[in-house]
Amino acid sequence: MTFPAWVFRSNSTAFDLVQIDKKSYENADIPEDHVLIRVRAVSLNYRDLIGWKNLAGRKLDGRVPASDGAGEIVACGSAVRQWKAGDRVAGCFFQAWQTEPFDSIHHKKDLGGTLDGMLQEYVCLPESGVVNIPSHMSFEQGATLPCAALTAWYALRSRGGLRKDQTVLCLGTGGVSIFALQIASKMGAKVFITSKDHEKLAKAKELGGFETIHYLETPEWGKEILKRTQDRGVDHIVEVGGPGTLEKSMQCITAGGHIALIGVLTGFGASNTSLFPLLAKNVRLNGIYVGPRDQFIAMNAFMEETHFEPVIDRVFDMQHALQAFEYLASGKHFGKVVIRV
Ligand SMILES: NC(=O)c1ccc[n+]([C@@H]2O[C@H](COP(=O)([O-])OP(=O)(O)OC[C@H]3O[C@@H](n4cnc5c(N)ncnc54)[C@H](OP(=O)(O)O)[C@@H]3O)[C@@H](O)[C@H]2O)c1
Repeated sequence: MTFPAWVFRSNSTAFDLVQIDKKSYENADIPEDHVLIRVRAVSLNYRDLIGWKNLAGRKLDGRVPASDGAGEIVACGSAVRQWKAGDRVAGCFFQAWQTEPFDSIHHKKDLGGTLDGMLQEYVCLPESGVVNIPSHMSFEQGATLPCAALTAWYALRSRGGLRKDQTVLCLGTGGVSIFALQIASKMGAKVFITSKDHEKLAKAKELGGFETIHYLETPEWGKEILKRTQDRGVDHIVEVGGPGTLEKSMQCITAGGHIALIGVLTGFGASNTSLFPLLAKNVRLNGIYVGPRDQFIAMNAFMEETHFEPVIDRVFDMQHALQAFEYLASGKHFGKVVIRV
């Protein structure tokens, strides 16, 4: 018996994505502390594009992509006590990072990177590498949580200490930014959000966005935010842009504010921007890499309590996974792109 999976296949400049058949698990193949999951949905992240285009030079040949997936447990190893067949779960991005502090050793066990990811029909994970998805969510919604949602939560809530009387700036309307917008506005904070598209800005407003800015029409958006905040600036910035946006983020962060350094949408290169504003304003700069499992559990409790609905732009079938990658690469999406397995 076999089951379908997608894998990266090496090519001279990037990776191809090809569908293969993998050998099915027998009960005897399940290690005693692992669970076997029938994957039902996977969501894509910008990271999957970085892998596909080989922008970070990782060795992904033959690796199954995608850190994010949800499904139901179909079998448990003999020593597993906390899970049973039928439980609805998602895999953790860092399979071994349970709680703070972070240790670089966790980079050796990341789904869709050093380990096979979720874009396959069955996956076998340690029992400590999965969490329950919120009970009101579908598998498609649950599959959006492990990377983008946890990153936004960990950045704002855990490391940022966001309070309801504060302001947050989100850059663009991709997965991390829309989760950050929803989390912050559910907590009562005021969210400023940028986009290159007026329709997306209108949708962001419907989701609770307080102020919106078209970053192509207003390239000096840092100054614009200062103007709209009477020169005070914002308390938190979800910095997903990197070298091409940091200068403006430093412009509009308030004195004593917090910048969560998360993304590389404008590239991995060095920026020749002066970092002096960070000192002058006593800014907290936090490097963020997803988050630990206990924060994933805490976030899911918050989502359960607030009846949180992740924003899914489009769902593709498993056989159209390649189109899902292409759609994400087009930058037309708002929120998350999902593949039904
Ligand atoms: N450190 C971590 O743990 C972590 C975790 C997740 C993601 N990331 C990183 O965070 C970034 C976002 O990831 P994602 O998965 O949310 O991406 P995504 O869903 O692919 O979001 C892409 C969107 O970002 C916006 N964008 C692109 N260039 C921009 C720019 N120069 N200024 C403002 N917005 C811009 C665009 O939105 P509009 O169409 O609205 O303009 C685009 O559609 C990526 O660099 C990713 O690698 C890091």
